[in-house]
Amino acid sequence: MEKTFIMVKPDGVQRGLVGEIVARFEKKGYQLVGAKLMHVSRDLAEAHYAEHKERPFFGELVDFITSSPVFAMVWAGEGVIGTARHMMGKTNPKEADLGTIRGDFGVSVGMNIVHGSDSAESAERELSLWFKEEEVTSYAKTLNRWV
Ligand code: TYD
Ligand code: MG
Repeated sequence: MEKTFIMVKPDGVQRGLVGEIVARFEKKGYQLVGAKLMHVSRDLAEAHYAEHKERPFFGELVDFITSSPVFAMVWAGEGVIGTARHMMGKTNPKEADLGTIRGDFGVSVGMNIVHGSDSAESAERELSLWFKEEEVTSYAKTLNRWV
């Protein structure tokens, strides 16, 4: 089954949006297979955002992600990588459609509430960076055949 890495960023945790975000993915029909609340180390933050190393916002981004706990999750389901990106909305909440997580709750690009892997390759890389194999569960959900 396809899996993706989704993270509620420090602003989302501080604002009490963890439940709202989990509920959206649950109601959509996806399956939560791993989750943890954690304070991110600088090393992990830099590795996670390595593709943006040369960008002017990299330092602030790493400061932000390490500033307060994040809620890291693994979600599974058909097409979950692409659909989760649609459900999150555009990177800049000002451009994100209403009805998306960033469109409904975000204001500025620096604090856009949620992260989601942007491709199958990113999902594989990020899942192995954030979760040990034994932290990702596998269980049958009887409702899955109705989704
Ligand atoms: P990016 O990977 O482009 O966006 P996404 O999170 O949608 O995959 O950028 C990573 C994060 O970097 C983004 O969520 C917020 C932050 N960021 C800025 O702070 N300023 C910027 O100009 C951009 C493009 C991103
Ligand atoms: Mg990205």
